[in-house]
Amino acid sequence: MSNIVIVGTQWGDEGKGKIVDMLAEFADIVVRFQGGNNAGHTMVVKGEQFISHLVPSGILQNKTCIIGNGMVIDPSVLLEEIDYLISKGINVGPDNLKISEKAHIIMPYHKHVDNGREKMKGDKKIGTTGRGIGPCYEDKATRRGIRFIELIDTEVFKEKVKSIVKEKNFYLKNFLSYETVDPESIINQYNDYAKKLAPYVTNISIVIYDAIKAGKQILFEGAQGAHLDIDHGTYPYVTSSNTIAGNACGGAGIGPKEITGVIGIVKAYTTRVGEGPFPAELFDETGGAIQKKGVEFGATTGRKRRCGWLDTVILRNAVRLNGLTGIAVTKLDVLDGLETVNICTSYEYNGKTVNDFPASLKTLAACKPVYETLPGWSEDISSIKKFEDLPQNTINYLKRVEELIETPIYIVSVGPGRDETIMLKNPFNK
Ligand code: GDP
Ligand code: IMO
Ligand code: MG
Repeated sequence: MSNIVIVGTQWGDEGKGKIVDMLAEFADIVVRFQGGNNAGHTMVVKGEQFISHLVPSGILQNKTCIIGNGMVIDPSVLLEEIDYLISKGINVGPDNLKISEKAHIIMPYHKHVDNGREKMKGDKKIGTTGRGIGPCYEDKATRRGIRFIELIDTEVFKEKVKSIVKEKNFYLKNFLSYETVDPESIINQYNDYAKKLAPYVTNISIVIYDAIKAGKQILFEGAQGAHLDIDHGTYPYVTSSNTIAGNACGGAGIGPKEITGVIGIVKAYTTRVGEGPFPAELFDETGGAIQKKGVEFGATTGRKRRCGWLDTVILRNAVRLNGLTGIAVTKLDVLDGLETVNICTSYEYNGKTVNDFPASLKTLAACKPVYETLPGWSEDISSIKKFEDLPQNTINYLKRVEELIETPIYIVSVGPGRDETIMLKNPFNK
């Protein structure tokens, strides 16, 4: 039996949703273990597009989906997403969607603090999604958070809100000069959410453990990417959770021995939304052409994504941090028609070669990419189904990536659709 973790290797939006949707066919359960509705995962099935922010991307394959304890949940967004999926004819209910009783709740004051801080920071802002993610994780770490188990106990919830709102409003009004919140209306509104969501709430660690014991296969769906990880990313231009594969255990309540493989999703070039250094970023026509052809706009905020060449310094970092057993290369079709393609193989800093991703943002911001240039391919590869049918230059590009990061390619994605995929090795077949 295999239990596989899928993670982003770059700065998010690598195409995790597509690969999770496709691989969910071979799994029984799909689990999200961190992040919240800062994520936007896109799936395209028979030409129809679905974007999920909270519900795991296994829902279209009619698999049991689990919202792990490591996530932070805005209940209004979750209820909207459930309604949206149902309106599209997808089966969603407490039988196939389970929420951890220990997942933390995003409250209105978290969103106000997130947006108030960004406004105050001006051009020093992080460029967050404004969904209250950081302030919610902050309250979790300082032990002032509210979990699902407290949300569904109306007495406990009321007490908690009353005590915390005083402090939040003081901070919002006097420090951030931002809109305050009204505790009574929060209590009423959230009591309504609690009533609707209570049937979904359970101990998901037990659900997953029992499933593994019964021989079921689990797919863990990461959000964001290794370089947005709170510990290992471009801090402070990161998200507020651990996005790396190790957190699949903490964020779902299982032990590391259950994980049998980790697949890193690698976009064939690099993108980033929000602020922060990005050595291989392109500011020229090629960058603009990739942005346009790749339709690089955020699935959550609609912001234009910054684009650059594939960076194997960050990929090698992701290989080590996640213990990748293989990668899935996505959006390869976007590079069709380029005369040459560049791969960043190292950085140059003060005349020296840098092979390892630096922790200092100052250093990183001063790093210049060192490129290897390969011939491109003129063919449209989007309808190709077999690896050996790819143009020789495309194969050479992929082989060179494998060599540089010392990790095998399991999957190549040549279009957004579930079927626009070349599978070299199925991670569920050991
Ligand atoms: P995620 O956050 O990692 O799930 O990625 P997003 O959904 O935010 O962004 C990936 C975008 O690329 C989505 O619009 C996908 O539909 C699209 N996509 C995924 N794989 C491919 C591919 O191989 N080719 C093309 N052209 N688009 C793809
Ligand atoms: P998926 O799962 C890309 C970025 C934001 C910002 C930083 C912090 O779709 O790949 P936050 O709201 O989390 O405090 O914002 O992280 N960010 C993402 N960028 N894809 C995502 O998710 C992201 N989630 C957060 O743009 O720079
Ligand atoms: Mg996304």
